[in-house]
Amino acid sequence: MAGYRSVVVLTGAGISAESGLRTFRASDGLWEDNRIEDVATPEGFARNPALVQDFYNQRRRQLASVEPNAAHRALVEFERRFEGQFLLVTQNVDDLHERAGSENLLHMHGELRQARCVVTGEIEPQDGDILPESRCRCCRTPGNLRPHIVWFNEMPLYMDTIYEALANCDLFVAIGTSGNVYPAAGFVLEAKQNGAKTILLNLDEVDNSSSFDQQLIGTATVTVPLLINQTLS
Ligand code: APR
Repeated sequence: MAGYRSVVVLTGAGISAESGLRTFRASDGLWEDNRIEDVATPEGFARNPALVQDFYNQRRRQLASVEPNAAHRALVEFERRFEGQFLLVTQNVDDLHERAGSENLLHMHGELRQARCVVTGEIEPQDGDILPESRCRCCRTPGNLRPHIVWFNEMPLYMDTIYEALANCDLFVAIGTSGNVYPAAGFVLEAKQNGAKTILLNLDEVDNSSSFDQQLIGTATVTVPLLINQTLS
């Protein structure tokens, strides 16, 4: 399997599941307990900002009690071996990839540990809760901060850079993502069209499984180190 020139890896909630973070679409997933339109849309935020802030405050607090797992760590080794020809794109808003040591990393759905001013769009670090009295650094006005998270009906981040990398990669790997949400679910076809080999590492079959050349079914902490050992040997 060695000999690849340029690699793009896409991760989803499944890679953080074994660290103790819930996925979205499982029977015990986040969307079972919460309505997407209430907590993950701009309209939901306009209707009930307190509910939305509370949802993300709780998820942000949870980051303090979880650690990167063997799958996050294996991707760091993968990146080191591909020296500058490796892009990790995550749909996850947790910080486990960076805490494991990944460097060339894009959070296409935003980050829990960042907030954004709804007036200026300025982004700032956010470690604690966003409260009604929290003030943004730019205008110092209470109530202007929202989580820097891409909600449904909003544009994912870094799309130009990601599509350029997909056009140039010869290996595309998706890990722990159900292939339900676009544009990320379409990355596999984009890479394939450009001649890349495409591999899926997931706990089960997913909606876009048939687009992958190869599948490794299992938990990420087992399959990711396995794939990387094969690819690098
Ligand atoms: N190892 C590998 N895969 C796993 C594991 C595991 N330990 N645990 C769960 N999975 C798989 C599930 O089987 C599922 O197919 O991970 C996938 C997670 O899918 P989703 O819950 O749909 O999460 P994701 O694909 O990241 O969601 C995409 O949807 O709601 C939005 O913005 C949110 O970024 C999110 C996007």
